[in-house]
Amino acid sequence: MGSGAARGMSGRHDRIVTGRALDEDARLDASVRPVSFGDYIGQDRVKENLQIAVEAARARGEALDHVLLYGPPGLGKTTLAQILAREMSSSIKISSGPLLEKKGDLTAVLTSLEPRDFFFLDEIHRLQAALEEVLYPAMEDFRIDLIIGQGPGARVHPYQLSHFTLVGATTRAGLIMAPLRSRFGIVHRLDFYTPADLQKIIARSAGILGITIDSEGAAEIARRSRGTPRVANRLLRRARDYAEVRAQGHITVSVARDALAMLGVDEHGLDEVDRNLLLTIIEKYGGGPVGLNTIAASLSEEEDAIEEIYEPYLMQLGLLGRTQRGRVATALAYKHFGLAEPQRQSGLFS
Ligand code: ADE
Repeated sequence: MGSGAARGMSGRHDRIVTGRALDEDARLDASVRPVSFGDYIGQDRVKENLQIAVEAARARGEALDHVLLYGPPGLGKTTLAQILAREMSSSIKISSGPLLEKKGDLTAVLTSLEPRDFFFLDEIHRLQAALEEVLYPAMEDFRIDLIIGQGPGARVHPYQLSHFTLVGATTRAGLIMAPLRSRFGIVHRLDFYTPADLQKIIARSAGILGITIDSEGAAEIARRSRGTPRVANRLLRRARDYAEVRAQGHITVSVARDALAMLGVDEHGLDEVDRNLLLTIIEKYGGGPVGLNTIAASLSEEEDAIEEIYEPYLMQLGLLGRTQRGRVATALAYKHFGLAEPQRQSGLFS
């Protein structure tokens, strides 16, 4: 593929791979979300470990230990938290680091929890330091220190919380400092799903949504879903739109291919932003190394989105490298675009 053809013609693009789904997509995402371990496909090692922890906690009549889940977005961290709560026959309250602005926001949730309830805290790496301080005794001793009054007359009142389970989720494990991390008894990394698991997820979602798709069609979408169920389900819905308008509503492998081509999703599941990211490094910066901030400015994208959404998959495919001096396009990336690799100094990856 030539670089000109690979580059998008317009500035904005259909954000197939981005983080959270919007409106209709979010509603449909929720309708296909597995509700028990039994219908959760993939992540077998994590699932098995969590199942054992749940069974043991249930047998003891105790709250589950605090759980930290990390890994790229869209792999099912929220879903797993909801499954955990359901399997423990408990309720779950959901919030996220950036949503909690004041200590009072956090204490309001914590004091509302019943014994063995769950509190899912997404993007926990973005929790303010002052709120993290509140979390430590809450996690460890199920205690918060309420400050009553102001100024010299202020008094600290320890308040006993119910024994609850915090499920923290983050796309950036590296930003969780040791004092917080060490308070989680159960820590798991979610990995990208295999194409075989994604195919099963697509078949399951299609069944729930009443979409007709054959196994080759499902395999084609699975292969190009960046190892991510959220992307797989979104591509399935777009393929359904395409099939309804152009192919009597039935998704075969050729319908899937045509639909994905129209969406600008290539053989490897790369979209326009992925391609522009790699081509920026190759064409503007001689293949790198180039800093993340420079790439973000060139692409008019958020640094966080590049680092959390795009790069993990490009690295997994071996198309992008992160070095101390910045990002580099790999030999495979040049090959992907049919471009010749320039001679570079050795030791780049050291
Ligand atoms: N939908 C989204 N993620 C899923 C999973 N892991 N298993 C089944 N269906 C899903």
